[in-house]
Amino acid sequence: MYNSKIAGLGFYVPENVVTNDDLSKVMDTNDEWIQERTGIKERRHVIKDTETTTSMGVEAAKKAIERAGIDKDEIDFIVFATLSPDYYFPGPGVLVQRDLQLKRTVGALDVRNQCSGFVYGISVADQYIKSGMYKNVLVIGSELHSRGLDMTTRGRGVSVIFGDGAGAAVLTREEDTSKGILSTHLHSEGQHAEELSLIAPGMGKRWVLDIIEDNDPDDTSYYPHMNGQFVFKNAVVRFSEVIMEGLTKNNLTPADIDMLIPHQANLRISQFIQNKFRLNDDQVFNNIMKYGNTTAASIPIALTEAWEAGKIKEGDLVVLAAFGSGFTWGSVIIRW
Ligand code: UT7
Repeated sequence: MYNSKIAGLGFYVPENVVTNDDLSKVMDTNDEWIQERTGIKERRHVIKDTETTTSMGVEAAKKAIERAGIDKDEIDFIVFATLSPDYYFPGPGVLVQRDLQLKRTVGALDVRNQCSGFVYGISVADQYIKSGMYKNVLVIGSELHSRGLDMTTRGRGVSVIFGDGAGAAVLTREEDTSKGILSTHLHSEGQHAEELSLIAPGMGKRWVLDIIEDNDPDDTSYYPHMNGQFVFKNAVVRFSEVIMEGLTKNNLTPADIDMLIPHQANLRISQFIQNKFRLNDDQVFNNIMKYGNTTAASIPIALTEAWEAGKIKEGDLVVLAAFGSGFTWGSVIIRW
């Protein structure tokens, strides 16, 4: 048995900054409401047709591979987490294989776990590396939300929150099993599947032909829907539980955390967790103010920014935690 460790990180966000004031020009919202309820000041929206979920993921991956100090041909497996794939199928994993010109023997897996997607992806990569099956696994989280949001007042409860961007990590074999990823913890509760969801297109309820036939401007089933307060209440409970589960499994306590990177869902959620575990500002990293909620991309973007800022050092205990649509949630405990 081996451990896996994060050997390289990278992120990519589109240049185009959309402020809260920009949004207030197209819907009934305002900077004060958005900042007070979510902490978000601005987010990025793609404007170039060449920017896609895959292309952003590829840019993030290039940096992660370079920083890992490996050749791209040393990548054995790709894990791509997103809720906003370029195509309904195939998923973006194979598009990364094509666009990065990775060898044809590489496997490509698409993960559909929304805000928990990156944590799920890390867990999958970790198991492959631990078992010795693969040595280097590329894990990408990327989202292009902006083209699929309801940018009218009807959609304001959701649309002001989400932003575009991508992050990536290269996981590699670590011989010293006291270092690297110590454990991962994944959960789900499908009972609440529709509380944060996008129903159409989907074979179960509304397929593309139904939507075309209806052509009903009041049909919101192809926009994301979120029961915000219900999701918020579940988020704070599940975040706390899954962080404690990971710490307990490794005989650690919240005081041992050097850096917590929570999924950037809402600054209020991060602050709740920070207070609950009595962590100081240096022990929690947030960047939702700049990028909004980038779903599967939020943890790798935040992790990369924290690392680039020198806030993560060798030997640190780093905790990743996510909660989101599904509901799904999870945590990763890392000795850096
Ligand atoms: O990433 C996956 C996990 N996601 C989360 O964890 C998100 C969890 N939920 C949340 O972060 C919060 O529930 C939101 C930020 C989505 C919403 O905040 P809230 O404090 O729960 O607001 P609310 O939905 O209860 O809405 C309060 C009021 C409503 O007006 P009335 O009915 O009180 O008159 C909304 O219509 O705020 C109104 N509102 C807005 N006003 C201005 C909703 N969205 C907006 C908006 N601008 N963008």
